[in-house]
Amino acid sequence: MNLPTPTRAILGALALLAFSFVSTSDAAAPAAKGSAATGKSIYDQKCVSCHKADGSGGVPLGTGKTPNWTVPATWAEPKRKDRDAYLRASITHGNIAKGMVPFVKSGQLKPAEVEHLIAHINVLAKTK
Ligand code: HEC
Repeated sequence: MNLPTPTRAILGALALLAFSFVSTSDAAAPAAKGSAATGKSIYDQKCVSCHKADGSGGVPLGTGKTPNWTVPATWAEPKRKDRDAYLRASITHGNIAKGMVPFVKSGQLKPAEVEHLIAHINVLAKTK
């Protein structure tokens, strides 16, 4: 193409911009099905007492304490590799022995509400 240099520079910048959008969305967590804002309001009512508002946990319960979602080391543990699936299973089935309520199994939350909570926890989560 025989384009003037400024035009080429602009085209180049546009291409780079388009590429960076594609690559950031690839790197980000998979698009959540739920709404993080709705999830936050449920979380603030039902979860903060044990998980803290920022998700840093550390509250001793049952045989352990609540996990710290604000450090990458937590998310590096193999059991959390498929993050959304792990969160979904934890909120649905809980772990009574370790102090986590089976929210869906006990009828306190609907599956759709769990999706909102997952979206909110993904906002709190620091993975790097
Ligand atoms: C009574 C205290 C308590 C409440 C309330 C509570 N949790 Fe938990 N939760 C725990 C404990 C304790 C664990 C850790 C269990 C374990 O060690 O396996 C846990 C674990 C989890 C996990 C697994 C996380 C991980 O990274 O391993 C998720 C997800 C979770 N809770 C979400 C929620 C959500 C969402 C709510 C609110 C709807 C909630 N919890 C309310 C005590 C609580």
